[in-house]
Amino acid sequence: MTKLLEVNNLTMEFGGVVALKEVNLHVSAGEIAALIGPNGAGKTTVFNVVTGYYQPTKGDVLLNSKSVLGLKSNKIARLGLARTFQNIRLFGDMTALENVMTGSDSRNKVGLVGSIIGTSRSRQEESLSHSRAAELLNFMGISHRSGQLARNLPYGDQRRLEIARALALEPKVLLLDEPAAGFNPQEKVELGELIKKIRDAGFAVLLIEHDMSLVMKISDRVSVLDFGQKIAEGTPSEIQNNQKVIDAYLGVVDNAS
Ligand SMILES: Nc1ncnc2c1ncn2[C@@H]1O[C@H](COP(=O)(O)OP(=O)(O)OP(=O)(O)O)[C@@H](O)[C@H]1O
Ligand SMILES: [Mg+2]
Repeated sequence: MTKLLEVNNLTMEFGGVVALKEVNLHVSAGEIAALIGPNGAGKTTVFNVVTGYYQPTKGDVLLNSKSVLGLKSNKIARLGLARTFQNIRLFGDMTALENVMTGSDSRNKVGLVGSIIGTSRSRQEESLSHSRAAELLNFMGISHRSGQLARNLPYGDQRRLEIARALALEPKVLLLDEPAAGFNPQEKVELGELIKKIRDAGFAVLLIEHDMSLVMKISDRVSVLDFGQKIAEGTPSEIQNNQKVIDAYLGVVDNAS
C-alpha cells in the first residue's frame, strides 16, 4: 500500500515537556488508521505538527514522499492534509453552506482577482463549489442546516459540518480529532458508518478517538501513544490483546466506562 502520510522519528518538546519522542507513524491509501492513548499522550500534538502548526524539535513529516516541514498550514492543507479540531473551529457568523465553501474555495484556481471581477470561469467555479458544498452537507446528513448560521447549530451538527468543510478540500488524508466527542451511542454508530464511507470514497483517514468501540469497529490499523511514545501498533484485535496497551490505557478506559 502506498504510504500517503509518514511521520518519521518525530520529537516535539515544549520547553521542558517532551510531548512526542521519536514517533513513527504512517497512513496508507485506502485505510482508516487510528491514533489512541491516554489524555496528554501527544495525539493532538501529532496533528499540530503534521499540519504545520508546530515545528518539530526533530524528525520529518512526508506527504506523498515529500517533506512538508517548514511549509505553512494552508499550503499543507492544499497539498492534501485536512483536519478537524478537538475544539470545534467554524466561522460562527457564516452559514453551514458558506463554511463548507470556504474549504472548496481554497481549491479554486481562479484566485481572488478572478472572483472579484467575476469572470465567467470564476462564476462557474462558484456554482461548482456551491453545488459541491451542498453535496457534502447532504453526505454528512445535515443538508437541512445549509442556510443556518454555524454558531446556531446543535453541537453534533457542528462536528459534522467541520468534517464536511475538511472534505471540501479534497484531502488525500483526512485527520479527525475526536469526532465522536459528545455523541450519543446511536450517533457514534452513524458517525462510524460515515467515516467508513469516507474511506471507501477514496480518502485515507487518521482518527484520534477515545471511544474504543468505535475505534475497534472501523479502524484498519491502530497505533497507541503513551507519554509521547508509540507503545504499540497493529490490528484492532492485536491492540485489544496487547498487555502493554491494556496496562497503559484500555484497562483504564474499560474501568471508567
Ligand atoms: N502548545 C503547547 N505548549 C506546551 N505544552 C503543550 C502544548 N501543546 C501540547 N502540550 C503538552 O503536550 C502534551 C500532549 O498534549 P496533547 O494535546 O497532544 O495530548 P492528547 O493526546 O491530544 O490528549 P487528549 O486526549 O486529552 O486530547 C501534554 O502534556 C500537553 O500539555
Ligand atoms: Mg487531544
